[in-house]
Amino acid sequence: MPSGVQTEVKTYQMFINGEWVASQSAKTFPVYDPSTEEVIAQAPDANAEDVNRAVSAARVAIDDGPWSTTTAQERGRVLFRLADKVRQNLAALAELECRNTGKPIVEAEFDINDVATCFEYYGGLATKITGSVNPVPDNAMSLSLKEPVGVAGQIIPWNYPLLMAAWKLAPAIAAGCTCVLKPAEQTPLTALEFAKYFADCGLPPGVVNIVTGFGETCGAPLVQHPDVNKIAFTGSAAVGKIIVKQAADTVKRVTLELGGKSPNIFFADADFEAAIDGALFGVFINQGEVCSAGSRILVQKSIYKNFVEAMTEKAKKIKLGPPLDRDTKMGPLVSKEQYERVNQYLEIGRKEAKLASGGGRPDKIAKGYYVQPTIFYDVNNSARIAREEIFGPVAAVIPFDDEKDAMKIANDSPYGLAAAVWTRDIFKAMRAVKSLRAGIVWVNHMQPTYVEAPWGGFKQSGFGRELGPWGIEEYLETKQVHINLNEAPIGWY
Ligand code: NAI
Ligand code: MG
Repeated sequence: MPSGVQTEVKTYQMFINGEWVASQSAKTFPVYDPSTEEVIAQAPDANAEDVNRAVSAARVAIDDGPWSTTTAQERGRVLFRLADKVRQNLAALAELECRNTGKPIVEAEFDINDVATCFEYYGGLATKITGSVNPVPDNAMSLSLKEPVGVAGQIIPWNYPLLMAAWKLAPAIAAGCTCVLKPAEQTPLTALEFAKYFADCGLPPGVVNIVTGFGETCGAPLVQHPDVNKIAFTGSAAVGKIIVKQAADTVKRVTLELGGKSPNIFFADADFEAAIDGALFGVFINQGEVCSAGSRILVQKSIYKNFVEAMTEKAKKIKLGPPLDRDTKMGPLVSKEQYERVNQYLEIGRKEAKLASGGGRPDKIAKGYYVQPTIFYDVNNSARIAREEIFGPVAAVIPFDDEKDAMKIANDSPYGLAAAVWTRDIFKAMRAVKSLRAGIVWVNHMQPTYVEAPWGGFKQSGFGRELGPWGIEEYLETKQVHINLNEAPIGWY
């Protein structure tokens, strides 16, 4: 066993104001290993009272605590120390993430490495936040200053638990905000392990608080809290819409990342082998539980038949198995709820289209929320499996005639998070880049994600951008300062 993480059923506490606490109600909820369906931990079931405590701690820390006078240099150093701690504990954190989400261990290791990279990036950026001088037409000095937005409420999903925490905590800390983070109820463990490093890394009490609980009883009070200045949310479109409404009463700044139904587009001139690989990787990585999953696979008619056959053949060889096995390529889905949701879509898909492969549980695996990599073809873009986010290993293959047809189908979606296009024709690629209505467009690849580049969606995939300098902007307010340089009275009256 790697050190630092226990594997027996353990009752966790949550982290408020620098202390480990149970919920006020003393209630806990079970946390599962989706590959065994067994309970691996208990976590505090936080309610509005606990949220109040956490928000007060965050408020005090930014208004009166040492964080209110911290320098950018100090914040940067805290972030670098957090990154180091994550790297030192990479094996243990990856194993815990793997057990709690069901994702393959190799992918969990990538994620935890990305967590450290994210803290390093924002550690460097902390000292690069600058204001500006505005050229106003007067004898005055006009400045724009950047200040932390205040207390940030951060609500994250279960598909990349610690990485989603990093994407939100790192820019917030760099900006000088304080945070109340609510992990998804399915996967609270790595965020709680991570909080153990805070004191050693020089993060004062109250700067980052972690409350574990459910959406309606713990997330909603955070969104509605008058002392919270901003909500950053990643999750379903349905909950995103509720959050915007609930945040309206206190006019909170809101950023939303709501997933999508991203098109992965294959022209006939694409490198065939790379294309097949890219189609599978785009939709089956992380069991398809990816906000930017290339779940609509658009294929030009002249290669369509061969493409579906080659994809099917290769999909059948994808190795499903225990998440901790190093050669496993797909583990179980995260929860019973998600397993049932995806299975409903498998039923819908059978009525709407033709099934090329998969479509249910793998034969040889008795336990765990496993779903085979599934390919539906001859899918009409108006079908539910082409319009609704499934968040599981389910591909909808859609044929198209020509470039114009491809772009029309690709953009015909309520979502606009990501898109990818595969071709060896630079003109065709560039025209696609221009016409795709999506926040992220890949050419001859799908899914690479870097902390240096912006992440977020068009249309109902949300608003605001994470990562890079864009990510820190969302945690900053702009203050205009006018300094009059005339000593005489205004002279109006
Ligand atoms: P969800 O949107 O319900 O959960 C995401 C987070 O929001 C969790 O922390 C949850 O506790 C919280 N939440 C739920 N209701 C809330 C409320 N009323 N107020 C405040 N916070 C609330 O997602 P769920 O139910 O786990 O998955 C449903 C579908 O959502 C998936 O099938 C998938 O399509 C989509 N999804 C998209 C993600 C993305 O990366 N954009 C991530 C996770 C899910
Ligand atoms: Mg939900």
